[in-house]
Amino acid sequence: MKKNFKRFWKLGREEFNTQYFDITKNGELMLKEGNYQYNIAKLVKQYGTALEVMFPFIVETRLHQLMDIFSAYIKLNDYKGKFYYHYPMKVNQHKQYVLSVVSEGANLETSSPNELWIVKRLWEQERFSSKIRVLCNGPKTERYIKLINELNQNGLTITPIIEHRDELVVFKKYKSEIGVRVNLNVKVKSHWDKRFNYFGLTEDEILKLGKIPNLGVISYHVSSQIQKLDGLTEPVKRLFSIYAKLRQRNPKLDTIDIGGGGAIPYVKKPMYTVKAAAQRIVKTCKQMSLKYNVKEPNIICEWGRYVVAPAQITVFKVITEKSVENGSNRKWYIVDGSFINDLPDTWTIHQQWHVIPVNNMNTRNNQRTWLAGSSCDSDDKYTAQGTYILLPKLQDETDQFLTFLDTGAYQDSLGARHCLLATPLKIIAHNGEVKVAAKRQSAEDIGKSFGW
Ligand SMILES: Cc1ncc(COP(=O)(O)O)c(C=O)c1O
Repeated sequence: MKKNFKRFWKLGREEFNTQYFDITKNGELMLKEGNYQYNIAKLVKQYGTALEVMFPFIVETRLHQLMDIFSAYIKLNDYKGKFYYHYPMKVNQHKQYVLSVVSEGANLETSSPNELWIVKRLWEQERFSSKIRVLCNGPKTERYIKLINELNQNGLTITPIIEHRDELVVFKKYKSEIGVRVNLNVKVKSHWDKRFNYFGLTEDEILKLGKIPNLGVISYHVSSQIQKLDGLTEPVKRLFSIYAKLRQRNPKLDTIDIGGGGAIPYVKKPMYTVKAAAQRIVKTCKQMSLKYNVKEPNIICEWGRYVVAPAQITVFKVITEKSVENGSNRKWYIVDGSFINDLPDTWTIHQQWHVIPVNNMNTRNNQRTWLAGSSCDSDDKYTAQGTYILLPKLQDETDQFLTFLDTGAYQDSLGARHCLLATPLKIIAHNGEVKVAAKRQSAEDIGKSFGW
């Protein structure tokens, strides 16, 4: 019986990243970290809702696997370049996540001076080995340039990635390696497949640059949540034609950076595996090196969402229900959080999520629902694109809790404060212990940032 409910809620399945989840005898959601376990319903009773729970061990496991798999295919293909992972800090800058990826051997990628400032802090606290390399993307403001130079002079390997022609002039005399970002003329299937992309230099611009002192890396980032394997390999093929031409004048160029893009099966439909992706990417690099008769470059990968999204869940309480007008027996479940504020991709890019109950998981008495947030905004809702979210029917005597899975990427830093609602309380569950990472904000806390 228990097994059926686990299957019903799509838990315990590696291909959906739910292998750590289980259901207790009482129908409550639990998560296992080795032989430690966390009962989410109990955590909710202790800490209240809205609640975010971070699981750093998931970050560590996923990163470890990713690096191992790429390295294995490099060996298997007798590929001469090395594999390097750089964690794109924009995906989740929370200290615990950054420390977790660094502990597994990740390098870093920043997109702003404030992210680089975090690197500076960690470096000053002597928390980094001097082997770590930091790639700096994003527009190079004065403050950014100053920090890049300062950290580089202090012995940290900082590679500014040139995104505009002006930046080439700024870093002309830079003593260490630099990189250049190309706006590849290739489109892939994903939400961000924009016709007009303003990041990096165009292919033409790059080829006209001639010799660039200390050029070591050529990078691109075509998109996020890339849907198909071809979307990962077509840009690699395109990049090689440029890499080969650039190398003729820049023999120090020995590294390609394939950016982010590894996808998450948010809606629990089959998706390519990291094994299939790594195999295809390494094989493509091997074939292209042969085709263009060039040195097999090192490969940098910046998959962010892939590593951190499954490491966080966001839990809400259902405050009340209402009928959906003309909604063929769907009910609105109104929750004590806000999609606009706490899971903004729901609103901005119509992200779909895997939503499951936290308690009453072994009931067959379920309800088709649409979810509404607590702000005043009619866009503050999640309807699974007009379909429905199946959740237990509400009972008078027990509160119903639900959780969104895979909320570890982008949501925290994009979050807003519509209607001055507080951000969820955030806890970290690690090595069997639970710690508060961010307290629940009071009216005073929020008011302060609005001048009150
Ligand atoms: C330069 C760069 N690298 C990596 C990433 C991470 O992408 P993803 O989370 O899709 O892997 C991004 C995301 O915007 C990016 O801009």
